[in-house]
Amino acid sequence: MKALTVHHLSPDLSGVSLIDAPMPVRQPGQVLVRVRATSLNFPDLLMTRGEYQFKPQPPFVLGLELAGEVVEADADSPLPIGTRVMGGGKGGCMADFAALDPSALRPIPDSLSFHHAAALGAAYGTAYTALVEIGGLKTGDWVLVHGATGGVGLAAADLAKSLGARVIATTGSPAKLEALKAACDPDAAILASGRFREAVAEITGGHLCDLVYDPVGGDVFDESTRCVAFGGKLLVIGFAGGRIADISTNIPLIKGFSVVGVRAGEYARRFPERGTAVRQAMLALAAEGKLHPHIDRVLPIERWREAFDAMAARGIVGKVVLEL
Ligand SMILES: NC(=O)c1ccc[n+]([C@@H]2O[C@H](COP(=O)([O-])OP(=O)(O)OC[C@H]3O[C@@H](n4cnc5c(N)ncnc54)[C@H](OP(=O)(O)O)[C@@H]3O)[C@@H](O)[C@H]2O)c1
Repeated sequence: MKALTVHHLSPDLSGVSLIDAPMPVRQPGQVLVRVRATSLNFPDLLMTRGEYQFKPQPPFVLGLELAGEVVEADADSPLPIGTRVMGGGKGGCMADFAALDPSALRPIPDSLSFHHAAALGAAYGTAYTALVEIGGLKTGDWVLVHGATGGVGLAAADLAKSLGARVIATTGSPAKLEALKAACDPDAAILASGRFREAVAEITGGHLCDLVYDPVGGDVFDESTRCVAFGGKLLVIGFAGGRIADISTNIPLIKGFSVVGVRAGEYARRFPERGTAVRQAMLALAAEGKLHPHIDRVLPIERWREAFDAMAARGIVGKVVLEL
């Protein structure tokens, strides 16, 4: 079977290739999934370089999420043969087949295609965990979403709008401002460069933001500490910008806000009942047509390099789906 494999860690994808790999061996209780679509997440790129917090030893198969159908299962499996499923784990999804525990998968709602199912889980799961579970999002809240042209950012902007919040979406790329407005219909879209606090204050009538969702970090995080309303939360999602920011603890004290780290996958592993609730809520919204996963492009897995290069160059709005 085809499998996108990291043979050695490299800064330029030279250690990655699509190989003919042995089929995964299904353990009792697991299901074997014929993968139809997988989507690219920033951690996939970081894992090719050894820069992600989870550092498997090469060789390993890339891919954190998939959509496909069950082709082998125990007779009493909760996911019988033929079930369309979505989900994933810490790797192995960028391959023709993956063997997974049923708990890592859920049935795909009829209204979702394989492409949309592959693009939904990690991005909206992160957004839902951060904004709703940890952030306590309420109707009418002002939410500042950074990296909003990216996978987890665009999902957060879309979800917050669907849940009745007011959204200021940001990009660091002037050329993507119009595409951002078209992709998630925010209340305002601004450039996250320099002193953007003044723009946030003007848009919110001086209130500032109840929640700030930050997958970018660095200078964007620093300026965001000036954008949180009293009693609000600055949600630390990631560091796509490359620099992990420092913060003096007097700032959240004086301004009365919290800085909260979000690890959506770990949250679901540590609190399985909350993880299940998040997935159910997310899929219910998707089934009602209230989520709009934005697919930038669909490519065959053979064109994986194009997808990874586009992500590294910040050339994507939403998600890239790879077909198998
Ligand atoms: N906490 C969690 O549970 C969790 C879960 C999933 C992902 N993450 C993290 O969230 C971050 C974003 O992941 P993603 O999958 O959404 O990635 P993505 O699709 O590549 O989006 C990242 C966005 O960040 C912006 N950005 C700003 N500076 C950048 C830079 N120097 N390089 C690349 N992008 C830059 C880009 O938007 P503009 O070009 O428009 O500025 C880009 O669209 C990553 O750090 C990832 O590890 C965290």
